[in-house]
Order: sequence, then C-alpha cells, then structure tokens
Amino acid sequence: MFVAVMGFGTVGSGVAELLDKNHDSIVKKSMQDSLELKYILDIRDFPDSPYKDKLIKDFNIILNDPEIEIVVETMGGVTFAYDFVKKSLLAGKSVVTSNKELVAQHGYELLTIANEKNVNFLFEASVGGGIPIIRPMAQCLAANEIDSIAGILNGTTNYILTKMITENQSFDEALKKAQELGYAEKDPTADVDGHDSCRKICILAALAFGKHVYPDSVHTEGIRNITLSDVAYAACWGGVIKLIASAKKLDNGQVNVTVGPTFVARHSQLAGVDDVFNAALIRGDATGDVVFYGKGAGKMPTASAVVADVIDAAKHIEKKKFFGWDAAEDNYIADYNTAVTALYVRGTADDKQAVIKALNDSIGAVHVLTRENAPENEIAFVTNPAAEGELKAKINAVSGLSVTSVIRVADY
Ligand code: HSE
Repeated sequence: MFVAVMGFGTVGSGVAELLDKNHDSIVKKSMQDSLELKYILDIRDFPDSPYKDKLIKDFNIILNDPEIEIVVETMGGVTFAYDFVKKSLLAGKSVVTSNKELVAQHGYELLTIANEKNVNFLFEASVGGGIPIIRPMAQCLAANEIDSIAGILNGTTNYILTKMITENQSFDEALKKAQELGYAEKDPTADVDGHDSCRKICILAALAFGKHVYPDSVHTEGIRNITLSDVAYAACWGGVIKLIASAKKLDNGQVNVTVGPTFVARHSQLAGVDDVFNAALIRGDATGDVVFYGKGAGKMPTASAVVADVIDAAKHIEKKKFFGWDAAEDNYIADYNTAVTALYVRGTADDKQAVIKALNDSIGAVHVLTRENAPENEIAFVTNPAAEGELKAKINAVSGLSVTSVIRVADY
C-alpha cells in the first residue's frame, strides 16, 4: 500500500520521519504487506532533504496514481487543502489530516463524501496534537450522552497565561517569549484571539453533539486584554485565568459554544494545566468527568496522531469506519448572552461603597476582590451566576461604575 503526504512543513516532515523510524511495526499494525511513502507534495524545494526523491510539485500525480490509497494533508489553510482533499476523497482515496481549519469549516461535506465513496476521512491530529481525543470520543465514550466539554486547546495562549501567572510577565513580554521559542507565529492572531481554540471546540462539539458547528457561529474572545491586575484578582478569588473553549448541551436542544478567558478555580482539573500543554474535560452521563491531557502541538506529537490515523485507514481500507455528524442547523447554537454564568468584573468607581450597595440591590451579593497596589478607585468583584447578557446590562447600568474588564467564571 502507498501513501502520499501533502505539505512538507513541521508536521508533514514529522510524518515522513515517523513512517521511516517505526516502519516495521507500523506495517505490522496496519495489517498490510507494506506501507510505503511514495510522494511528498510541496511547492518548495528541499535539495538537502533525505526525502528529496519523493518530492513533487503537481497534485495531479497523486490524484491520478491508483497506487496511492491514503493521502495525508498537513498543508494547513483551506484553499488548496480543501480542493486537494475533496478531489482525493472523490477519487476514492482515504484522507488523513491535521488541519483543524479544514475540518471545522468543511468537515460535514468531506465526511459525507467519504461516506459516499466508502473511504475514511480521519483527523485525530486536528485537536490536541498528540493527545488521543477524537477517537476516544467517537468510540470509547460512544455509549455516553455528552453533557459538556471544557478545554484548554491552544498551547501558545496557555504558555502566555502561565508566564503571566507564575512569572508576573506582561502579555506583551510573554507573547515575545512565545515567539522566540517558536510557539507563537510572527502574526499570533489565530492563537491569541482564540480562533485556533474555536476551530478545535467546533470539531469536538460536532463529535459530541452530532451536528456541524461553524466557527463563525461561536462567540470567541482572546487573551490580548488580560492584564496582570486580572491575574492578581483571580488569585485573590482562588484560581487562575485560562483560555477555555467550551461546549454544553442545553435542555432546549441547543448547544452553547464559546471561547474566552475564564476564571478557573484552583481545585479544577484544568487549573494545573500549564505551559504549552492542552487538556479537555469531557462530562459524560455514564462516565462522569474524563480528562485528556498532553502536548497539544509540536512536530512529533502531532505526527504521532497523523500516523496512527494512517494505520487505522490502512486497516480499514476495505471497510469504512462509521465516523461523522449531521449538517449544521439554524438556531442550533444558543445566543451566548442567554447562558448562565458568574462574571468577574474590574472597573473604577469613586464611591465604591455606593457601587457595591447598588450592585447588591441589582444583582445580589457580589464577592469583592482585592490586590496589592491597586489604584484607590479600582474595584473588582465576582457575581453570582445569571444569564450573561442580563448580568452585564444590570452591571453597566450601575451609576458611578465604569467597567474595564469582564471575564467568565467557570463552574468546573
Ligand atoms: N498554534 C497551535 C497551539 C498549534 O499553540 O496550540 C496547534 O494547533
């Protein structure tokens, strides 16, 4: 059996190396007589690469070669990746991808084509890098009704927040360090503004609840506006700030999906997930809480997940695995303003006692927070849970309070 890899970047080169390094055991586990990498597609030249003889620039060579039964997509983006993956599936080839943007945007369509063509479309590496999560959710937790998912799904932002919390670095300092270490891109938008986490929670929500979730239907906030004063107030409250991607099934059949910085209590299993590590807490009706933890990015951890899918695709080359979800539906994603949550609020007030009294009258008792060296007129508090939109409207209506920062408070 022959395999082609499209995209010879960090993950693609890791896939080629792993297929070589563990060749014999991979062939054995795939239950094939052989499993060989035949082509690597990339527009760039790699004259010094040990794989230079396999490098090609024309996708049609892969498409038109009947010996290629499994295509690995590690190009990223959705323009060429979508076109090449769709054509590969339509040509009856199984596809393995690490591309979260592709799955979050086009997963339903590509899974439908794979079903029609009786081939596999697998994407274990698209969420959580090397952490096994897609297959465990689809198979091992299949007997459960999933109630909710809460995850730290982006290593770069978790590294930045960890540096802010443990070393008192500002957001800008921590971001610079993350860029120096190669975690954050020169343009860090996808990570720090929450888009990467959003794509990943869309995939997990689709798997858990059975309908496609488009990233643009998800309320997404990043971590750019988090300050060291917010970090200090979180510590006073008894927790830390994490970028949490969450999805929860509601009683009315809708699903609440959000991404945003969140106060997480120290006793939560997610509070101790630091640096570039990822974790996802899945709450099932039979299992209770299950936590997946590990390296969510990086060359070899991600290649490990991709190659495991290649083995699975090879094993099931004659028989498609059931794997998929239904099309997106209107009004399926709840308005995040209606979701019940407690809020942390930081602002300024000249007469703090009057503001606290007004808050108590309007939204009930608030938990007032303190920190060292706070300006005289700074005020910070945590509310009781209520519908987010109503809570914000009532807080903004309190006379004498000017709100600077609002962060959700988790209940897990
Ligand atoms: N930029 C991502 C992260 C890589 O930092 O987690 C994996 O999607």
